[in-house]
Amino acid sequence: MGARVRKAVLPVAGLGTRVLPGAKTTPKNLLNVVDRPILSYVVEEARAAGIEHFVFIVGRGQGAIEDYFDANPEIEGILEAKGKLDILADVRRDLPQPGQMSFIRQMAPLGLGHAVWCARDVIGDEPFAVMLPDMLMMARTAALAQAVSAYEQVGGNIVVVEPAPAGEAHKYGIVALEGQEGRLNRMTGMVEKPAPGTEPSNLFISGRYVLQPEIFQILESQDRGAGGEIQLTDGMFNLMKTQDFHALEYEGTTYDCGDKLGLLRANVAFALARPELADAARQAIRELL
Ligand code: UTP
Repeated sequence: MGARVRKAVLPVAGLGTRVLPGAKTTPKNLLNVVDRPILSYVVEEARAAGIEHFVFIVGRGQGAIEDYFDANPEIEGILEAKGKLDILADVRRDLPQPGQMSFIRQMAPLGLGHAVWCARDVIGDEPFAVMLPDMLMMARTAALAQAVSAYEQVGGNIVVVEPAPAGEAHKYGIVALEGQEGRLNRMTGMVEKPAPGTEPSNLFISGRYVLQPEIFQILESQDRGAGGEIQLTDGMFNLMKTQDFHALEYEGTTYDCGDKLGLLRANVAFALARPELADAARQAIRELL
């Protein structure tokens, strides 16, 4: 069995075009779902999978992400003085241990593959996770923890997938499988946004990966692909020539917070899943309908 997965790369340097103008001054992944930034949920998921170091790939104007994960003595001091200890605990819940987070500037949003490549020196020569933070996973066992268990079982590279809604597979990155039995299957390929009717399966790549460090050498010399961007899928496709890839159909549901409707759906779903909010949220939604 290979080395343990200790580090996660979280690329957040995209422009968030689909959620502008909100994402103009607040990085997309700091937008709230209910009462916490999207990133808060993703970091919690990573911790549940045993991740010890978080590598954020950021762009200009995203300093608020570092500030969110830093202490704020003024706010914390006021909450303490006022005895609002439950809110204080909630504010501190997301704080890392000093040294657990790295922030790397991508400098230009050249694509997801390029963003991941920017993490090469901090990751070094060990397997690592990639988490696309706009994808929020609601799952009893954290989605990344399921991926890490699968990795511990079969090694190599793991791509987390989920059945696409009927008729929508052509909108996503879709995996091709050697055979489909149970939830963990060997991959034979993947295709970005296949033409309708040509999809090799109905399973879309949902934004959690365990990858081997050899991906960095591939990304280093990779040409630009679809949309003029350096695509992670192209890099994985090349790595698949020499290494095993398995697709894991995880148990849970993905909410894509990258566009307006997805963000709305995530807010509703996560509010309904909060015991202290569920009844009031259901009532409010009913009234609106
Ligand atoms: P997306 O394409 O979904 O995000 O990339 P985006 O570019 O922010 O969104 P739109 O299309 O403009 O609305 C998936 C993830 O990869 C990151 C994004 O921040 C997002 O979390 N990403 C993408 C980078 O970090 N760098 C890039 O060059 C591209």
